[in-house]
Amino acid sequence: MTENDFVLKKYNSNNLKKGTFTWRSPSNIALVKYWGKSEPQIPKNTSISFTLNNCHTTTTLEFSKKENPSNGYDIQVIFEGLINKDFKPKIIKFFERIEKYIPFITEYGFVIKTENSFPHSSGIASSASGLSALALCLMSIEKVFNTNLTDDYFNKKASFLARLGSGSAARSVEGEIVVWGKHDDFSYSSDLYGIKFPNNIHVNFKNYKDSILLVDKGEKKVSSTLGHNLMHEHPFAKARFEQGNKNISAMNKILQNGDLKAFVQLVESEALTLHAMMLTSNPYFILMKSNTLKIIEKIWDYRKRNQSNICFTLDAGANVHVLFPEKENDQVNAFITNELIAFCQNNQYICDKAGTGAWQL
Ligand code: DP6
Repeated sequence: MTENDFVLKKYNSNNLKKGTFTWRSPSNIALVKYWGKSEPQIPKNTSISFTLNNCHTTTTLEFSKKENPSNGYDIQVIFEGLINKDFKPKIIKFFERIEKYIPFITEYGFVIKTENSFPHSSGIASSASGLSALALCLMSIEKVFNTNLTDDYFNKKASFLARLGSGSAARSVEGEIVVWGKHDDFSYSSDLYGIKFPNNIHVNFKNYKDSILLVDKGEKKVSSTLGHNLMHEHPFAKARFEQGNKNISAMNKILQNGDLKAFVQLVESEALTLHAMMLTSNPYFILMKSNTLKIIEKIWDYRKRNQSNICFTLDAGANVHVLFPEKENDQVNAFITNELIAFCQNNQYICDKAGTGAWQL
């Protein structure tokens, strides 16, 4: 599909005066990372992620026809019950990018009520869950105009719109594993939207666990926009993008053949490569904290001692995602509470697992 296929061309908004839609959309954790993009939000390499289950954003979109039509956007954001002005510029930018595809957004006034299941300043990015939830609400409006929309088109366009708000949000519409970015291994993959992993997922990866250790709950030191931009002049960029695409092929096989050892190795290498890109950019950044490294050492030690398949991955921050198969749940949970949470801010961590994607409430 091309961008043109996502332009809503003919619609009649006369009969839709107002309404409300609510969607709950999950966060996701990349196994092969997206880091580097070109305009408009086109990834430099393909990425693949587990959709999460418990970390999600719930967004209610109230809309009513403007009394005096104008070209601008009429948006109010209410975050966790309070009027929030901080999110508005990002949402306005998002609306500017998507207006071409859903022109009705200039005809309505919107109240966006949104809340996260995870603590606000937890260092967990809410852009993937937040923007996908909003994109889904907007698609529900499009569906009123065009009741013939297939579920497939609905999901693709929701992911397409979400991507224009935040790249990784393209991976938050469906579950349990999503591929975003054109790749030879997946004939239906696209740079424009995420697709559900199309092959059989080995039972080893069903209900895969992700416990998120909150090492540093502060504001992100490197915004994702800044981070992605650092890849433009980066001396290792080309090699990284090629490696990312090779790792997608490897991960495609691993997810089907259930090779947990290869999974562990690939996922950790991806996490460290992401951070290596930041360590070697200009300007350079160290986003891990000493407790991040202590946790990693503990995980490696535990893995060796217990012949475990536990591993870690990281986002662009200090928090550690501890990934492990469902069958190791009891032992690893005991290990986390006994040995790892001491390295978390206020002992805080979140238990999550791979989930099935967004749903409408
Ligand atoms: C490190 O999706 O937050 O989490 O497209 O600028 O909104 P924007 O970036 P964003 O980048 C996520 C980067 C990452 C890796 C990943 O999720 O693949």
